[in-house]
Amino acid sequence: MRKKIVAGNWKMNLDYSEGLALFSEVVNMVNDEATGNQQVVVCSPFIHLHSLAALAKGYSNVAIGAQNAHQAESGAYTGEISAKQVKSTGAEYVILGHSERRQYFGENNELLATKTDTALKNGLKPIFCIGETLQEREAEKHFNIIKSQLVEGVFHLDADAFGTLVLAYEPVWAIGTGVTATSDQAQEIHAFIRKEIAAKYSQAVADATTILYGGSCNPKNAAELFGCADIDGGLIGGASLKSRDFTDIVKAFN
Ligand code: G3P
Repeated sequence: MRKKIVAGNWKMNLDYSEGLALFSEVVNMVNDEATGNQQVVVCSPFIHLHSLAALAKGYSNVAIGAQNAHQAESGAYTGEISAKQVKSTGAEYVILGHSERRQYFGENNELLATKTDTALKNGLKPIFCIGETLQEREAEKHFNIIKSQLVEGVFHLDADAFGTLVLAYEPVWAIGTGVTATSDQAQEIHAFIRKEIAAKYSQAVADATTILYGGSCNPKNAAELFGCADIDGGLIGGASLKSRDFTDIVKAFN
């Protein structure tokens, strides 16, 4: 049975005290109200990781993640954070390949393959993001884009290493736009991703892979999305900054 995960991506939001306050609200509400076996992951800016990881130790269903980690083990990379440093805070996950990092920081599949290797080597669980732009979808290139992101980003891994990954399908045109993919659109791509995994590795590996949906997921559409056969949870941006909304999304699995 693959893991059901609802991960919040706070992006570049919340100062230190705001982050602590939001996290405390979320964990209390989730533990009072969520009745399923879903895993909650909060992916905060680096400044929160150590404090949130310490608080999360009190909740078996809550883990912490970073939003990035450098591809090198260490060195003269001013301003960067290494996977080893992320791990040392107590964080368990790291988002890699988010479309905003691909867009604003030029992160391509080749670099992300190396980031994934370094993250795995340092004991982190990558949440590896893939997804097409509106232009690519309108040109009917979305299946090719998704396949190339898989092949060039993570299909170099052996089955055991791949089994550590969480994948997140985030259609770029749905991120932060309020335009959510329909459940049919999302399920179609998730099923395609799982088919590609089965072809590369095995049906057992494909069936065990958690594939999250991200892109304007909210309390109104989460239950329909999460009810799809190949959607195993969500990677939540804006709604993760509101404790009530994020908790209601987590409860979509109840
Ligand atoms: O990583 C999740 C994020 O990209 C989705 O953002 O605001 O559309 O939920 P949002």
